[in-house]
Amino acid sequence: METTRSANADIFNHDAEAAGYDIDVRNEADPIRTGYRDVLRWVVEQAHITPSSRVLELGSGTGNLSELITSCGELISVDISENMEAIARRKVRHLANRRFIKTDILEVFSHELGEFDVVISTYTVHHLTDQEKRALFALVFNHLVPTGAAVFGDLMLQNGSEKEEKIQQYLTKGDRATAEGIRDEFFWSLDTAIADLQRLGFKVNTKRFSDLSYGVIARKANGFKKTD
Ligand SMILES: C[S@@+](CC[C@H](N)C(=O)[O-])C[C@H]1O[C@@H](n2cnc3c(N)ncnc32)[C@H](O)[C@@H]1O
Repeated sequence: METTRSANADIFNHDAEAAGYDIDVRNEADPIRTGYRDVLRWVVEQAHITPSSRVLELGSGTGNLSELITSCGELISVDISENMEAIARRKVRHLANRRFIKTDILEVFSHELGEFDVVISTYTVHHLTDQEKRALFALVFNHLVPTGAAVFGDLMLQNGSEKEEKIQQYLTKGDRATAEGIRDEFFWSLDTAIADLQRLGFKVNTKRFSDLSYGVIARKANGFKKTD
C-alpha cells in the first residue's frame, strides 16, 4: 500500500507547544482536555500489554501514555515533533527496548516495522483528515498480528450533526476557542470511523469519556485479512 505523508503534519507538529504541553494537559477544566488522564489510563489498560508485546505508539508526544506502560517487549514511538520527543525520552527510561522514529504517522509505515501486538494512540489521529484516517486504519490493520488490536483515545463526535451542534453550543457559551478547535481540527466522526474500521475486519468497541472525547478499541475479528 502506498503511504504518503499526511497533509497537515507540519501544521500540527507540536514543537512550539512542547515546553508548556504537560502543564496544559493538566487543565481538565478545558473541554478539549477533560478526561485526559482517564483516557490515557483506559488506553493502556485496554491494550493488555504484556512483557513480550511489540507496541507501536502513534503521536507519542511528551510520553504521557508510554509512561503508563509497565513493561513490554518493544516500544516504537512515532512523532513528528523533535521537542515533544525530547521530553518523552525521559519518561520511557523504564522500558528496556524502546525506539523513537521522528516522522509522520502515515509515512512511518514505509519503514520496515514488522508486525505489532498492539497499536496505541491518544489525541493525535484527529490531526488527520477523514480520508487519511481511513488510510491509517488500513495500515494499522496490515501491521497487526492476527490477534492484535489498536486502542485509540481522542477528540471525537458521533457524526457531522453532533459536530455542528457542539460548535453552536460552545459559541453560545462564549467559548470560541473550543468551537474553533472543533471546526478547524479533524475531530473523528465516530460513525465514519467505526464503519471504516469494520470494513477492514476490525471488531470495534467504544467508550465515551467527556463531551468531546472517546476511546475506541479495534480488535482483529476474524483472523488475518490483508487489504491492498
Ligand atoms: C495533542 S498531542 C498528543 C500527544 C500524546 N499522545 C498525548 O496524548 O498527550 C499530538 C502529537 O501528535 C504529533 N503529531 C501531529 N500530527 C502528526 C503527524 N501527522 N505525524 C506524527 N506526529 C504528529 C504532534 O507533534 C504531537 O506530539
